[in-house]
Parts: sequence; structure tokens; C-alpha cells
Amino acid sequence: MVFAVIVAGGIGSRMKSADIPKQFMELGDKPIIIHTVERFIHSERIDRIYIGVHPEWIDYMEELLVKHFGNSDVAVIVPGGKDRNGTVFNVIDRIEADYGLSDEHIVLTHDAVRPFITQKIINENIDAAVKYGAAGTAYNSIDTIVMSGDGEFITSVPERRMMYNVQTPQSFKINLLRQLFDSLSQEEKNTLTDACRICTVRNQPVYIVEGDISNIKITTPTDFKFAQVIADSFKE
Ligand code: CTP
Repeated sequence: MVFAVIVAGGIGSRMKSADIPKQFMELGDKPIIIHTVERFIHSERIDRIYIGVHPEWIDYMEELLVKHFGNSDVAVIVPGGKDRNGTVFNVIDRIEADYGLSDEHIVLTHDAVRPFITQKIINENIDAAVKYGAAGTAYNSIDTIVMSGDGEFITSVPERRMMYNVQTPQSFKINLLRQLFDSLSQEEKNTLTDACRICTVRNQPVYIVEGDISNIKITTPTDFKFAQVIADSFKE
């Protein structure tokens, strides 16, 4: 089975929105997270949608599902964890409890705050996870990326053609991701906050699915303004 895991366990501190985590802010006629859920509902290849939600916002999320889809059965809501990986693994625990272990089970882990994910990206993530076991969405960097050890001076200028901007989904065979995570020490679990990094430190190849510049992560008030422009452009 193919599962969408939408992670919405954060509080969006960089957005500085007064009283509501950013994933619940209205973008056009509905909250950001509802746009995201819709994209996965529209995919014929997703069998079940799970949403990891901050524990204090579970009732709110359930009400949103009822309001926008008529009932809350369109997705399973699971309490989020203390960081993004914590949320991902809380959901994976629940999927394992609901559907058991199988090498056929695949998860597409996706940020709730990336509402412009395309069907092409969803399909290519599924295909790559089936074929390679692990896949991450990224696009070749448009800007040159520099490295700085001290934040004051440039220490190196890597070749731009080798630099990629990372997006989501990150997609995995559940059994593989579980096995890699269980192999980490507690210290590694604390520092490896990105699921693709868990793979690379254990030499598990991660296939790159080509992302889309519009698949932005809404993090700051400026991102939210860009998101409004992108949402308006889809209406035309
Ligand atoms: N996330 C999560 N569980 C956490 C923390 C983050 O599921 N404990 C999710 C967020 O809800 C978001 C995604 O991971 O959809 C990407 O994280 P980020 O943009 O950093 O979100 P926040 O942690 O909410 O933002 P901030 O860092 O500004 O507080």
C-alpha cells in the first residue's frame, strides 16, 4: 500500500502568526493544510492519508476535515512528535499498527506547508520508492551555493551543477526506513533530523525526484506572500 504522511506537528514559530500554526492559515479560500490534503486525495495512487498533528491541535484538525470534506474519514490524524522525525515515526507506528509490516508498504512524507505539490512529483516519488527504496524531491540549485564555517567568510564554492535544493516528499519503503532508524544511536537520532540523511549516513542510496520551484515550503511571512501569488496564478 502507498501512504501519504503529511507532517503538521510544528507550531510555525518563524511565521510569527499570532495565534495559529502556519499550516492552518487561510490561503485563498481554505487553510494551507487543506490544499495539501486535497492534492493527495486527488491522487489515484495514494491508498490512505495520515496527518501528524501537534497534540494541542488535533480537535481543530478534525473539525477542518469535517468542514471541508464532509467527514474526518478522509485522513487518519495522529499526534505529532517533538521534531519532524518524531512526527514521521509516530505516524509510521500507527500505520504498522493499522496495516502490519510489509515490504510493499511505502510512505510519502510531505510537509503540510507545501500546498503546491504536483501529481507528477507524487507519481515519481512512488515509482522511485518502489524501485530504489528511498527517494527525495529536490531541484538543481539556480543560485550558486557557498559554504562558510564561521558565517563571516566563504570557505568554499561547490560546483553549482552538483547542488540541489531539497523539497518534500521524501519517500521510503517503510521497512527500510524503520530498519535504518533502529540502527542509529540515541545521539544520531537527536542530530539526524532529516530522513534522507538517515539513509545517506547508512550508505542507502536516495534517488532524486525532480522537484518544482512552485513546491515551496511556507516558512516566513514573505513565503506566505509568494504562496498567495502562486495560488492566485492557479486561478487564472
Ligand atoms: N513538523 C512536524 N513536527 C514537528 C515539527 C515540524 O510535523 N515537531 C512539520 C511542520 O509542521 C512542517 C514541516 O515539519 O509541516 C516542516 O517544518 P518547519 O517548516 O520547520 O515547520 P515548523 O517547525 O512549524 O516551523 P518553525 O521551525 O518556524 O517553528
